[in-house]
Amino acid sequence: MVINVNFFIEYLKHPRTIGAVAPSGNALARKMIKPIDFKSADVIVEYGSGTGSFTKELVIRRKPDTVLILIEQNKMFCRELEKIFCNQPNLYIINGSAENVSDYLAEHGFKHADYIVSGLPFISLPPEISDKILNATKKAVGRKGKFITFQYSLVKKKFFEKYFRISACYREMKNIPPAYVFEMCNRLRT
Ligand SMILES: C[S@@+](CC[C@H](N)C(=O)[O-])C[C@H]1O[C@@H](n2cnc3c(N)ncnc32)[C@H](O)[C@@H]1O
Repeated sequence: MVINVNFFIEYLKHPRTIGAVAPSGNALARKMIKPIDFKSADVIVEYGSGTGSFTKELVIRRKPDTVLILIEQNKMFCRELEKIFCNQPNLYIINGSAENVSDYLAEHGFKHADYIVSGLPFISLPPEISDKILNATKKAVGRKGKFITFQYSLVKKKFFEKYFRISACYREMKNIPPAYVFEMCNRLRT
């Protein structure tokens, strides 16, 4: 586990929205991006980027013209992301909430995202917020996009199935704590 004092302090201030005491490790980050076809992706959205564990992998693997939209609610993390990724073209950091994803996509000229990668702690978010986010995500991925998220347990699996079809579920044992990665899509697909 990487010790990150700022991350831990933000967790103490906002335990329900941060939902983890430390950033995700590299092995989990690599598993999160595994379902992505980087050759064809035009726009990838990331929810809850935190200090950029998944973003770093997305930046390395994307085509330079693939647009990356990061949606992060925490101001301190947004400032940190600005510092790390300030030189990246086509990368936009939005200090806002995932439930407004369609508005942010529209502001950048997109109706749908090819992939939405989420670091959100659905286990600790209020259910009504999770509900809004998942409904907005369904709309934002459209018929062809994928929604990828991780959780530390399978407790929320049934909840995700209310909105999506789970096309794959992987376990990453090298993360602390070990995590499950869910790959999901809308049920109605062409
Ligand atoms: C468990 S941390 C994950 C951080 C990073 N992705 C990682 O894996 O290390 C959850 C992140 O989600 C953010 N978050 C919580 N609710 C959010 C929301 N509604 N919209 C956007 N970000 C949110 C928190 O501020 C926090 O940075």
